[in-house]
Amino acid sequence: MIDLDRIRKISGLIGYSEVIEQVLEMMGQIAPVDISVLITGESGTGKEIVARAIHKLSRRSSQSLVIVNCGAIPAGIIESELFGYKKGAFTGAGEDRKGYFEEADRGTIFLDEIGEMPYETQVKLLRVLETGEFMRVGDAQTRRSDVRVIAASNKNLFEESNKGNFRKDLYYRLRTVTIDIPALRFRLEDVDDLVDRFSLQFSRTNDLPYRGFTSDAIKVLKQYDWPGNVRELKNFIESILILERGNKISSDMVIKHLTPQIGRPSPNLPVVIDKSSEQAERELILQQLLFLRQDMRDIKSLLTGSEIDVSRSIAYLPSELAIPGIKLSAGSFGESIDGEDTKAIMSSAIGDVSMKDLEREIIRRTLKKFNNSRRKTAEVLGMSERSLYRKINDYGLEKKKKSKK
Ligand SMILES: Nc1ncnc2c1ncn2[C@@H]1O[C@H](COP(=O)(O)OP(=O)(O)OP(=O)(O)O)[C@@H](O)[C@H]1O
Ligand SMILES: [Mg+2]
Repeated sequence: MIDLDRIRKISGLIGYSEVIEQVLEMMGQIAPVDISVLITGESGTGKEIVARAIHKLSRRSSQSLVIVNCGAIPAGIIESELFGYKKGAFTGAGEDRKGYFEEADRGTIFLDEIGEMPYETQVKLLRVLETGEFMRVGDAQTRRSDVRVIAASNKNLFEESNKGNFRKDLYYRLRTVTIDIPALRFRLEDVDDLVDRFSLQFSRTNDLPYRGFTSDAIKVLKQYDWPGNVRELKNFIESILILERGNKISSDMVIKHLTPQIGRPSPNLPVVIDKSSEQAERELILQQLLFLRQDMRDIKSLLTGSEIDVSRSIAYLPSELAIPGIKLSAGSFGESIDGEDTKAIMSSAIGDVSMKDLEREIIRRTLKKFNNSRRKTAEVLGMSERSLYRKINDYGLEKKKKSKK
């Protein structure tokens, strides 16, 4: 029996989804056996964590783990880096040098981004995998190294081999034991545990107060597709904890901070964001409405030299102007703008014309806000497109078409 909790603890791999449990189980099965492993998965899914854990769980754990990022080493020097070189092999080779394979002797070598390895180097890697033998660059002597190879790639190596970028023989040699880590969007049930762990870790290390996430906030996090996977989630958690320092993280905060991060269509999130941005738009419009009323009130007071009661004026608001989701009752409206020290104002001072002006202004601003989209404007203002159309005509809000010359 594989002790999944032990592997979880040693690896630091978080997640209770079925797929992660399969990954953990596989790690438990293959770690103690000296066999090469290919780890696949999108960027940020945890390939490196898994590779490190396999080494830790293996009998080689007391020996070194050498991590090589094949994508970061220039093609011209990758062979001498991997296999070492003999003095005089090339300009600058002032002395004999060991390569990573020799350094990793009796331990593990992790070849990250193996899909980036130059085609010519791949054949040498295949030879080490099959016989344990290699030669330093510029040397005729065959050397041996007892190394366990773990490779990782976020490319589809099968496709790469079909395109001729990756050797088929090496691909078949490597893929015998493959651990495929699914993207986070396929295991969103892990989000809760990941959020918990990353938040606690980050707030503890940085001495930040942490009050948790609301369940709605977690729901929103689960609606995003996380193209950058766990890495993206981790970075997001850390930044939101800094930006919303000390607050319990709400869904609104998540949406606010996630929106600029997206900058591209997300299959799921726009639903949520749309709703809330719509709500935000409504709030904005309401705010503008309040400012407008305030302005009007000031103007009226100036004109009449009297005090005007607008606390009831909301009653005159045409029903089409009702803003969905926001209760525009006379009371609440009054409370919003008429503070305790606001003097009573006579309602008689507000006439039809002002209300029309107000309506016209709101429609004009809303149209502008939504780039003249009548559908969106009608939706936000809670009126039918037809009445909006009529009002646009009535108020002369038609956008003048520029004549092309
Ligand atoms: N299941 C997980 N539990 C805890 N932390 C995780 C998990 N998966 C990934 N992480 C964290 O996410 C970050 C990215 O993980 P890692 O570097 O292993 O991804 P990767 O697959 O190697 O990505 P890349 O392909 O971009 O190199 C790391 O900080 C890692 O600790
Ligand atoms: Mg990696």
